[in-house]
Amino acid sequence: MDSVDEMTHPPGEARAPGPTLYDQLRADPTPPPAVLLEESYTFLGDEDVPYAVYTSEEYAQREYDLMWSRTWQWACHVDHIPEAGDYYVYDVGPHSALVVRGDDGKIRAFYNACMHRGTQLKPPGSCGFSNTLRCPFHGWDWHLDGSFKERPGAWDFPHVDDESHRLPQLSVDVWEGFVFINFDPDAAPLAEHLGVMTRHWADWGLADRYIETHVRKRLPCNWKAAAEAFLEAYHVRETHGSGQLGDEVTTAYDIFPPNVTRFIHTTGLNSPLRDPQLTEAELLARATRRRGTTAIELPDGMRARDVMASLVQRQMGETYGRDFSHLSQSMTIDSIEYFVFPNMFFFPGLQLPMVYRFRPDPTSIDHSYFDLLIMRPRPADRPAPPPPTVMELDIDDSYTLAEGLGQLGRVYDEDTANLAAQTRGFRSSRKRGQTLGNYQEVRARFLQLRVREHVGGSWPTD
Ligand code: FES
Ligand SMILES: [Fe+2]
Repeated sequence: MDSVDEMTHPPGEARAPGPTLYDQLRADPTPPPAVLLEESYTFLGDEDVPYAVYTSEEYAQREYDLMWSRTWQWACHVDHIPEAGDYYVYDVGPHSALVVRGDDGKIRAFYNACMHRGTQLKPPGSCGFSNTLRCPFHGWDWHLDGSFKERPGAWDFPHVDDESHRLPQLSVDVWEGFVFINFDPDAAPLAEHLGVMTRHWADWGLADRYIETHVRKRLPCNWKAAAEAFLEAYHVRETHGSGQLGDEVTTAYDIFPPNVTRFIHTTGLNSPLRDPQLTEAELLARATRRRGTTAIELPDGMRARDVMASLVQRQMGETYGRDFSHLSQSMTIDSIEYFVFPNMFFFPGLQLPMVYRFRPDPTSIDHSYFDLLIMRPRPADRPAPPPPTVMELDIDDSYTLAEGLGQLGRVYDEDTANLAAQTRGFRSSRKRGQTLGNYQEVRARFLQLRVREHVGGSWPTD
C-alpha cells in the first residue's frame, strides 16, 4: 500500500522514493550541461489508451494518410550520399522518397515515382549512384535536380513539356548530419518541428559522429508499441532483471512540446529500491562486469560512477584520438534519450550513442521495423569509415548476431522479447485499453496523443 503522503499528491506529481535525477546530476563533480537540468513534466491525463490504436486497420490508414505524409522524418545520413549522383530511398508505408545529391552538391528529395506511368524510379530501400534519374520502364530521364532530360518518342507527347513533367520535390532539410524529409512539400520548417532539439543539441556534436553500426530488425508488433518499449525505464526491473542490468534507477521524464520528449537515467549509482545499498566497490565491480572490462580497484574516497566515467573517457579517447575529459559524468555514461515525434530517438551520451527509428510494416499492422544506429565520434587522425551495410535481423534473430552491439545485444533481445505477447494481449484482453503510469509512462501517452491529433482527434473504435 502506498503511503498516505504519496496517495495525496495531485495526479502526476508523485515521484519514486530517493533523490531526484536532477539532484543526482547536480552531485556530479563535473557539472552537467544546463539543459539536462531543465525539468519539463506535464500531467497529460490518466484515461486508458484503447488497444484499437494498435489493432485498427482504419486507424493505421489514417496514420499513413494524415500523419506519415505530413511529419518530418529522417530518411538517411549525409554520409550515405556524399557525392553528386548518390541517392537513397526512404519508404514509409505507401510513401517513398528518393533523396539525391545534385551536381551542385545540394540535397533534394523527390516523390519516388515516374511522371510517365508511375513506376518507382529506384527500388524500395535502395541506395547507390546514378548519373541521371532514369525510369526503368520506358526510359524517361531526369537530371539530378529533377529537371527533364529526355523522353523517348517525344513526338507522341505534344501535351508534355519540360516544366509540366519535372520531378516534383518534397521538403528536405539537414539537422546534425541527418537528412530529414517531409512528404508535404509545404511543410513548416524542420527547425520548428525539432523545437528544443536545436538548442539542447547545439554543443553535442552529433554531426561530428559517424554511423559505426546499423541494425534493422523486424518486430512482431505495431510500430507504436515498438517505440513505446523504449520510452520508459519502468520495464527495466522486470524485463532486464534476470541478468546484469535489473536496477530500476532514478529516471526523469520530460515533455518539450510540440514534438520532443526525454528521459535521463543514471548508471553507476545505487537504486533507491535496493536494500541494503551496494557499496561503491560493489557498484564498480558491477559496472565493469557489465562493460565486459577487467575489474579495477576503487581508489580511496572515489565514487564508482566517477571512476567509470573516467575510464570510458580514457578508452574512447584512445580509440578515436580525441579528448573527452571535459564531458560531465552524465554525458559520458548515462542513458540520455530524446524522442522526436513521430518515430525518432537520439542519444547524446558518449557510452550510449544510439539513434533509433521505428516504421510500420505496410504489409501487417502487427509488424514494424526498428533501425538501430550506433554513432561514434569521427576519429581525429583519419577519415571516418563510410556507413556500414545494414544488418537485417528477422523477428527470431538475436541481436547478439549483430557485431558492434557487444553487451547491448542481449539487452535489446530482452527489450524486444515481450512485444509479440503484448500484441496478442491487445486482442485477448477483456479490458479494452492500457493503463499508463502518470509519470514514468507519460512519454508513451504523449506519443499516442500526438498521433491522435494528427489523424483527426479521436481514438479508433474496434
Ligand atoms: S513509366 Fe516511367 S518511363 Fe514509362
Ligand atoms: Fe530496456
